[in-house]
Amino acid sequence: MKAPLHLGVAGLGTVGTGLLQLLASRREHLEQALGRQIRVTAVCARSRAKPRAASFDGAIWFDDPVKLAVDPAIDVFVELIGGDEGAARASVEAALAAGKHVVTANKALLAKHGLALARLAEKHNVALNFEAAVAGGIPVIKMLREALAANEVRRVYGILNGTCNFILTKMQNEHLAFADVLKEAQEKGYAEADPTFDIGGFDAAHKLALLTSLAFGTAVDCSQIRVEGIENITAGDIDAASDLGYRIKLLGMAEQTPTGVEARVNPVLVPKGATLAEVAGVTNSVAIDGDFVGTLLLVGPGAGSKPTASAVASDIVDIARGLVMPPFVHPSASLKPYKRAEAGLHQGSFYIRLAVEDRPGAMAAITRRMADESVSLESIVQRQSRHQAGATPPAAATVILVTHETTEDQIRRALDAIVRDGKLTGKPQMIRIEELE
Ligand SMILES: NC(=O)c1ccc[n+]([C@@H]2O[C@H](COP(=O)([O-])OP(=O)(O)OC[C@H]3O[C@@H](n4cnc5c(N)ncnc54)[C@H](OP(=O)(O)O)[C@@H]3O)[C@@H](O)[C@H]2O)c1
Repeated sequence: MKAPLHLGVAGLGTVGTGLLQLLASRREHLEQALGRQIRVTAVCARSRAKPRAASFDGAIWFDDPVKLAVDPAIDVFVELIGGDEGAARASVEAALAAGKHVVTANKALLAKHGLALARLAEKHNVALNFEAAVAGGIPVIKMLREALAANEVRRVYGILNGTCNFILTKMQNEHLAFADVLKEAQEKGYAEADPTFDIGGFDAAHKLALLTSLAFGTAVDCSQIRVEGIENITAGDIDAASDLGYRIKLLGMAEQTPTGVEARVNPVLVPKGATLAEVAGVTNSVAIDGDFVGTLLLVGPGAGSKPTASAVASDIVDIARGLVMPPFVHPSASLKPYKRAEAGLHQGSFYIRLAVEDRPGAMAAITRRMADESVSLESIVQRQSRHQAGATPPAAATVILVTHETTEDQIRRALDAIVRDGKLTGKPQMIRIEELE
């Protein structure tokens, strides 16, 4: 029997206690499979007195995660504190510098400091594993790092934030306004008291930054991702999209284009028949297009104590087996600087909602502006909204346009001209249509 693997677990909250429960319930199985024990040797949290849903009897208690990170008794530092600075960053850096393997679920930390941490891990020849940082229980990091290592990835995309998907699904199924569903999500604990991070698309952007690096061999750079959240989606948009045969989803998408990698998080219209359109509630989903494998689609729980602990444990098991590889597949010295695709060149169809003054000539002016920019329209419909939220004032009409293939730049120029004409009573809504299967 090999020597036990000694863990130091910092953070005993949702994920930390889930991990302790998992390791306790699977102890014998893991020992047999790995030929060695996995022991929780030391733990750390803010409050020693707080009741916990898992036992850590026999483990040494630390008040300071940095001290735990460098303790000679541990082989692996498991960071489950959270946050992109402070205790999480200091302890992970200290652990790597002390030659400890690190397992973390912290997407915010990796999206901001991933490259520097990867360099540190490689310098000390230790693992920096982060399966739980993207899409919770879905093993997408492993998929990209290992199973698809020989494929050229063309595109990676998916539903990366359960809170947004819960809100959009509920708005769709119950014809409710965004603000009402957000309130319910907060009451149910699916959304934070300050929901900006989720609904603004920033949490999904952190995850997409990691997927982009793994898929395209680029240095992690969250600042290059174009981010738009779901806060401006109205119940009327969801109904109009449905009548056109689409669902609205917040997608993170990174794809190789001739001018660089385009990575963005934004609401999109997805055909109702597409598998992603059926992913409902807090569930996550990630699709990967590879040149040899084709398209793979993973669907599963994107958060929660048990699914996230499952992902953390898989990283620990890899270390117990002696598997150490560069954190972002390629050695960090050979990661390419992120070359962002030229904005606005994306070709596709768009959904546009306009609140138009209900006066003669307004529609003609809109179609003229579109024609000026060579934007051809597949349909133009004036709608009676069933909803008040996001609806237009009484003297205005809601007009829904669907364009043929065009570039974002052309649409934006046409919309700018329409706004300048002064015939709108509110800001235009523009959503990409992604013809996914
Ligand atoms: N929750 C999920 O479903 C989920 C899914 C995927 C990824 N993640 C990631 O997993 C990480 C942990 O999330 P979580 O939901 O488990 O968070 P959580 O429930 O808030 O737990 C955080 C833990 O960290 C401890 N802590 C906070 N500051 C500390 C400090 N300065 N020193 C020592 N301990 C400190 C807290 O101690 P006390 O308990 O004493 O306050 C608590 O035990 C985050 O990076 C998160 O993004 C979470």
